[in-house]
Amino acid sequence: GTVVLAYSGGLDTSCILVWLKEQGYDVVVFLANIGQNEDFEEARKKAETLGAKKIFIEDLRKEFVEEFIWPAVQANAIYEDRYLLGTSIARPCIARRQVDIAKQEGAQYISHGATGKGNDQIRFELTCYALYPGVKIIAPWRMPEFYQRFQGRKDLMEYAKKHGIAVPVTPKDPWSMDANLMHISYESGILENPKNHPPKSIYQMTKDPETSPNIPDMLELEFKRGVPVQVISLTDRTSAQSPLDIFTFLNHIGSKHGVGRVDIVENRFIGMKSRGIYETPGGTILRQAHLDIEAFTLDREVRKIKQSLAVQFSEQIYNGFWYSPECDFVRHCITRSQENVEGKVQLSVFKGTITILGRESPKSLYNEMLVSMDILGDYDPCDASGFIKISAVRLKEFHRLQKMADLK
Ligand code: ARG
Ligand code: SIN
Repeated sequence: GTVVLAYSGGLDTSCILVWLKEQGYDVVVFLANIGQNEDFEEARKKAETLGAKKIFIEDLRKEFVEEFIWPAVQANAIYEDRYLLGTSIARPCIARRQVDIAKQEGAQYISHGATGKGNDQIRFELTCYALYPGVKIIAPWRMPEFYQRFQGRKDLMEYAKKHGIAVPVTPKDPWSMDANLMHISYESGILENPKNHPPKSIYQMTKDPETSPNIPDMLELEFKRGVPVQVISLTDRTSAQSPLDIFTFLNHIGSKHGVGRVDIVENRFIGMKSRGIYETPGGTILRQAHLDIEAFTLDREVRKIKQSLAVQFSEQIYNGFWYSPECDFVRHCITRSQENVEGKVQLSVFKGTITILGRESPKSLYNEMLVSMDILGDYDPCDASGFIKISAVRLKEFHRLQKMADLK
């Protein structure tokens, strides 16, 4: 049969490619460009040499931003208060295209190089099953005949040498990475001991805030329906308008000023805790700006409901349920909440921090007349006395009854 393999060009998936061929499969290779720093032509040549039957290398950056990052921005999606879900939202984007290719090529099988302990296997496979119910998954890292043969990197290297797979000459970083337009994550290896500090040199996407520029960058971000439609630098008047350009622009500014680094221990869906380091420069700026314009334009009670939906949305994304009825439902509610989330936020970016400077909006629910300490507006202060007294009924009762119980 034919199998479509999610290929990265690295040692693991190269060995998997050859191993799948050994098992008798025709291997179609799929490499998604979602903004990782990668030599795609080099990867193509490599897959060719290894005997891939067909090779798809596709630029998914635009749809990744518009269909996955933007909904996460609208939701202020965040897992366990700190992780902006950069890997989690990329998986359904990659797997969706992989399914299309599998159908187009008449392939019954889909394969990936995720381990049997992580979240990524779940995200890949749930997406595949949801969009291609009849698919068969080949996950080599969960198959004894594979993982007993390749117990460490040494086994992979030997196998690679034997089968003409180019082996990396530079020593491997003592941790594992996952990179895309939104973030880079670092896990395992020397990071597995949660007490170990990461070496300063680990970060590839952001400058060290200690040595970042001593002059801030000032930006104006404009939102419509909860997503950015323009960014202008107030420092040098450069700007960007398309989703991909806006996000790239924000990554550049965030990177320059060391924005968006976090080091956390999180709960994997499988049930174990894991330590990870993330850098999400553009995503972190967008989160702060979006929170601000949302607070300015969203009704108080709608905001509360929306916020609790966002917690569920984030968990659904993290756990791999992007393509599920519950996630679809929550996403629609969140989109609906964003209709009037519109306006401009001005902010400065400096030494790893984002400072909101001001905001304006045609859809704002802020009423300067109403809130002013200097003007009365359409408001009668006497009404507040009744409002407070009624609110106190319950409190007075509670204390009265408690006192009576104490006297007994
Ligand atoms: N812990 C993060 C998550 O579950 C990052 C996973 C990184 N994946 C990887 N293959 N290195 O989303
Ligand atoms: C992996 O196990 O392949 C990476 C980590 C994860 O998926 O959580």
